[in-house]
Amino acid sequence: PRFAGVSVDPLRIVGKELKFLTKNIQQLLGSGHPMLDTVAKYYTHSEGKYVRPLLVLLMSRATALTPKAARPLSIPTASTIDDPISPPEVLSDVNPSSPSIDPLSAPSFESAYNSDSSDILPAQRRLAEITELIHTASLLHDDVIDDSIARRSSPSANVSFGNKMAVLAGDFLLGRASVALARLRDAEVIELLATVIANLVEGEFMQLKNTALDETNPTWTEDTLSYYLQKTYLKSASLISKSCRAAALLGHNSPDVVEAAYSYGRNLGLAFQLVDDMLDYTTTSESLGKPAGADLELGLATAPLLFAWKDNQQLGVLVGRKFAGDGDVQMARDLVARSDGLEQTRALAQDYADKAAYAISRFPDSESKEGLLEMCVKTMKRRK
Ligand code: FPP
Ligand code: MG
Ligand code: MG
Repeated sequence: PRFAGVSVDPLRIVGKELKFLTKNIQQLLGSGHPMLDTVAKYYTHSEGKYVRPLLVLLMSRATALTPKAARPLSIPTASTIDDPISPPEVLSDVNPSSPSIDPLSAPSFESAYNSDSSDILPAQRRLAEITELIHTASLLHDDVIDDSIARRSSPSANVSFGNKMAVLAGDFLLGRASVALARLRDAEVIELLATVIANLVEGEFMQLKNTALDETNPTWTEDTLSYYLQKTYLKSASLISKSCRAAALLGHNSPDVVEAAYSYGRNLGLAFQLVDDMLDYTTTSESLGKPAGADLELGLATAPLLFAWKDNQQLGVLVGRKFAGDGDVQMARDLVARSDGLEQTRALAQDYADKAAYAISRFPDSESKEGLLEMCVKTMKRRK
C-alpha cells in the first residue's frame, strides 16, 4: 500500500521504537547468575521477525488518532473474549507476601522512555517488549516439547544448553514478563496477558492430546477443523489478538476501537499460523531456519493434511496412529501434495487476512494504519 505517495514499510514506521526493543529486552532479562543470564538472552541474539512487537507498536500509533472515550467503570474481563476452554477466572494462589525488590531489573518503563515525545506511550512500548518476552518463552518451551534442533538458523536453546536449562530459562522469561506487566499498573491489561500465557499451554495441550479424535476409529467430522482452529487460536492468535487489544486499552481508546484491535489481531494471528502450517510443507529447512516437514514427524495433522483428509478417508488411519507407521510420513506428504489441501489452507488464511484488514477499515487513514494493512499482505507472502 501507499500512503501520501510513498510505499509503506511497517518496519520503518516504528523503526525507531524497534531499535531499542532488543536492548530493553536484554535489560529485562538480566540475571546475577551468569549461566541463566546467557540462556535467558540466547534467543535475543538471533534475528527474530518481531511480528508481535511490530503489531503492538503499529496498533498503538494507528489508534492514537481515533476519538477517545472514558474507560468504563465496570471493566470487561478477559473472559468476555471467546476463550471457551478457560474456566471462569479464579485468581488463585496469588502470593500475599510483598514482591521482592529486584535490583537487577530494568528501570521503570516511564524512566526508560522519558526523553521521547512519540505518540506511542511508554506503556505501549513496554507492552511490545512483553509480547516478545512471552513469545520467546514459548519458543524455549516449544523447542523442548518438539525436540527441535534449530531455531533462526542456529542450534536451538535445548541443543545448546539442554532441556532443563531451556525450560527454566523460559520460566524466567515469563517471570520477568510478569514483573514488567505488573509495573504497567493496569489490571485489565495484566489479566489479558496472563490469560495469553494460560492459552499457550491450553493450545499446546490440545495439540498433544486431540480430544476431538476417536483414535480407534479416526473419521473426519465437522469438529475436525474447528478443533484445529481453536487450538490455533490458543497457541498463536491469542497472543497477537490480546496484545493488540491491550495496546488499544493502554491508549485509552473507546470500546469499539478496542474491539476492532482485538478482531484485527485474532484474524491476523489465525492467518499467520495457517501460513506457518503451510510453510512446513512447502519450504526447506534452510530457508525456514528451523526443521521443515516437522509437523508430520511430530505426529501433527495441521490444516493442509486435514483438508486432504476430508477428500480422502484413507488418511484417517495415518492420523489415528500419528504417522508413526513405516512410510506413513512419506505417504501423508504424497497424499497432501496430490490434494488441494495446500490451496485450501492458503484460501482460508487469505479469508482471515482479509477479515483482519476489514476490522480496522474504520480507523482514520494514517501511515501506521497502512502499516497494519501491509502486515496482512506480508503475512500471506512470507517465506519464513
Ligand atoms: C510454536 O509452534 C509454538 C507456539 C506458538 C506455542 C508454544 C507453547 C507452549 C510450548 C506452551 C508453554 C509455553 C509458555 C511460555 C507458557 P510450532 O511448534 O508449530 O512452531 P515452530 O515450527 O516455530 O517450532
Ligand atoms: Mg516447534
Ligand atoms: Mg510446537
